Amino acid sequence: MSILHGIRTLGVLGAGQMGTGIALVSALRAKVPVLLHDRSSEQVTKGLSLVDKLLAKDVAKGRITSDEAKDARERITVVGSDAGIKGLRDVDMVIEAVSENLSLKQSIFGSFAAELRPDAILATNTSSISITKIAAASIPSGVSITSEEGKRSAARVVGLHFFNPVPVMKLVELISALQTSEDTLERARSFAIACGKEVTVSKDVPGFVSNALLMPFINEAIMCLEKGTATRDDIDTTLKLGMAHPMGPLQLADFIGLDTCLAIQQTLYEGTRDSKYRPSILLERMVDAQWYGRKNGKGFYEYNN
Ligand code: 3HC
Repeated sequence: MSILHGIRTLGVLGAGQMGTGIALVSALRAKVPVLLHDRSSEQVTKGLSLVDKLLAKDVAKGRITSDEAKDARERITVVGSDAGIKGLRDVDMVIEAVSENLSLKQSIFGSFAAELRPDAILATNTSSISITKIAAASIPSGVSITSEEGKRSAARVVGLHFFNPVPVMKLVELISALQTSEDTLERARSFAIACGKEVTVSKDVPGFVSNALLMPFINEAIMCLEKGTATRDDIDTTLKLGMAHPMGPLQLADFIGLDTCLAIQQTLYEGTRDSKYRPSILLERMVDAQWYGRKNGKGFYEYNN
């Protein structure tokens, strides 16, 4: 395990599928104490029950001992909604994993700057939003971007993009904002390696490498369905059996969340102003209908949650 990251306590903001997975690999693999916060206590309960289930499965499969599972579980502490972001004030790094919404992330990073230690690393698990914009939002209001405080505040922001399901997928994509310091980048990289991940580096462009390639592929598959080129099952089977993808693109879209896919596709379209990234109308309509995929039981497929 790398010791370069110097993270003694990690904060994770957001206990959805990504935040919960990040908390789990950090506690189990990097062996750091994790403070997990979500404004919804229901979401935290759901997240922790998934953690318990995954740890029990690893024990049953002989991958870890029951003591290791117990230690990992005990490293995760919930910060209640009354403490809020203030409850994370002593962490060495925080990873934000809330939904793909720029203004929400800007407001959270503004609060991080006000509440967290000035040397804490502020990482975002965003799938596509500009890390540079998020870093700018971390500069306290009234502080100049050219002042030492302004530069220091933005220099500790970094993109740390995990993949779903986090305990299974071996990659973390590391993204540097224009303002990110080398030290922040290297500590974030070491932390991802300590979590058992391989790291690739992308420039701060819309969607980075991963979603600039994946989302147009998913969007194109939805357009094929929209145009009647093939049925849902034939589109997915073609990619699964013809190209050895673990899931077809429509199944994968459901798995990621159709609302998330649309938000990323919109970021690509707005960020590049290139018509090749225009979101499929069918995808927009499905999100209008609140068909978000696996997470709420209805997308291109139906699920018994
Ligand atoms: N959380 C944790 N573990 C999970 C899981 C979840 N939500 N879903 C499945 N797993 C685990 C299972 O427990 C099982 O673990 P085991 O080997 O210890 O038993 C393992 O994954 C395989 O699961 P299954 O046997 O049930 O099913 P599959 O063999 O079909 O695998 C899958 C499921 C791993 C999800 C596989 O279908 C897959 O790799 N799909 C593609 C996933 C992918 O592309 N993810 C990236 C999405 S893009 C992204 O996240 C970026 C974002 O910005 C949009």
